Amino acid sequence: MPALPQPSSGKSLLRAGLLLLTVVSLLAGCAGRPVSGGAPISRWTQLGTQDTISLRAIVAATDACPTAIVDGRTLPLLPRTRATPPNTPARNNPAFEPGFAVLSCELDLPRSARQASIDGQAMPMLRTDTRRIVVIGDTGCRVKVPADSPGDPIQDCSSSADWPWRRIAVAAARTQPDLVIHLGDYHYREYCDQPALCSPLRDNGVVVGYDWAGWHADFFAPATPLLAAAAWVTVRGNHEGCDRGGEGWMRFLSPLPYQACPDQRFKTDSRSVLANNLTADAYRIDLGDKLTLVVADNAGHEDYRPATPQEVEIFTRTLRALTTLPALPQAPPVWLLLHRPIWYDGLDAGSPPNALQTALAGKLPANLQFVFAGHQHAFQTINFAPAADLAHYPAGRPAQVVIGASGTQLEALDPQSPVYEGKVGSGGMERAQPDGKLYDGVTASSGIFLNRYSFLLLELDDSGWGGTLLDADGKTISHCRLNGERKEIACSYPGP
Ligand SMILES: [Fe+2]
Repeated sequence: MPALPQPSSGKSLLRAGLLLLTVVSLLAGCAGRPVSGGAPISRWTQLGTQDTISLRAIVAATDACPTAIVDGRTLPLLPRTRATPPNTPARNNPAFEPGFAVLSCELDLPRSARQASIDGQAMPMLRTDTRRIVVIGDTGCRVKVPADSPGDPIQDCSSSADWPWRRIAVAAARTQPDLVIHLGDYHYREYCDQPALCSPLRDNGVVVGYDWAGWHADFFAPATPLLAAAAWVTVRGNHEGCDRGGEGWMRFLSPLPYQACPDQRFKTDSRSVLANNLTADAYRIDLGDKLTLVVADNAGHEDYRPATPQEVEIFTRTLRALTTLPALPQAPPVWLLLHRPIWYDGLDAGSPPNALQTALAGKLPANLQFVFAGHQHAFQTINFAPAADLAHYPAGRPAQVVIGASGTQLEALDPQSPVYEGKVGSGGMERAQPDGKLYDGVTASSGIFLNRYSFLLLELDDSGWGGTLLDADGKTISHCRLNGERKEIACSYPGP
């Protein structure tokens, strides 16, 4: 078994550097600094970009990266990023001030690796027969309150009713998935600078910040049971843009080698956009001969703006893994995973096509059957009639499933959202059928919209993929059936 995939030359340099760091760490340990002994604070497995699977661990700054036993061989995890103190002086953006008092570690393996353990604890690996997939999206606890404005509505991160991500992770782990897909937006507790609003929160023990404490509280601690349950596919959300939680994304969850984000400032001219957000190339994950996943990064896309030639060029380049898939008749179906949906209610129905819509029109492979996205904090399915948009989608538009209600404050509670329920009452914006809205010029033929905390369990049986939408306690909300040939997902409407 090869210990590591063949790296690119840049990756070679990086790995050589990391190896040197390991040696330096070990030498420092010989000089008296503690370098081992502590169990990892967090550990998980995630799928990589080039038919790899990556063992990941986070350890205390004073510990060394752990060692794994992989199919009988002892292999050390290598440092991915070292601990860093908070930046001083601050650079006017709290996203660039955080300290990370932890070491993150990784070991890339061929996807064929079958068994691995760290400290005697088995690590989830990719099973040869993937039949149960948990899909979650938008999990972090929303806290973004500047000193000079009311900010967004605050979610009470100390309440498992207000912020049910921990419950969802437990319930999702109980379904014993073979694979977990997170559609992005892991980190939401950004800053809280108004004493009147924020002191009670902090008095309640709520941690806020882009630093390790914020990432630990918002994602890694509550995710623990689900991280232990199966290997993950990690999609980057707009909250993981370089001007927000990007440093944490790059340190811990990006499938690519670590890259430092350039300094950007949220909601200013230097904010993260596709061109400066280290937008990654899409990559393929082949799950046997049954299914191909394509994972895309559209975190920096300002999807509410009309397309610009530069953005279209970036998508045309970075989505090549999707748009140049071999169109073999016997090729397995393809599902596209991204954070921002191609179509959703947050986009103005009258707007011209955005860059993603423009770049994809006429380029999608015929066997792309379903798109899975987050971003909109709700559950939504959108189906289009096969001949609804032949000019741009001669093989029919794929169906789209939005799973963005796995913890972050629901659209129902957001006065800025088009599906805010404050004025119409609970459930008043839920729909059993589309309401005639145009999605890039086309109405949906069917689909439902639910404002409920939820996650989706997809299961493969003899007649194809079925889905169950589950609530934060694992109770069924809706049953779904996916029809790949028709590019359609049909879900039962649970009623108010
Ligand atoms: Fe989100």
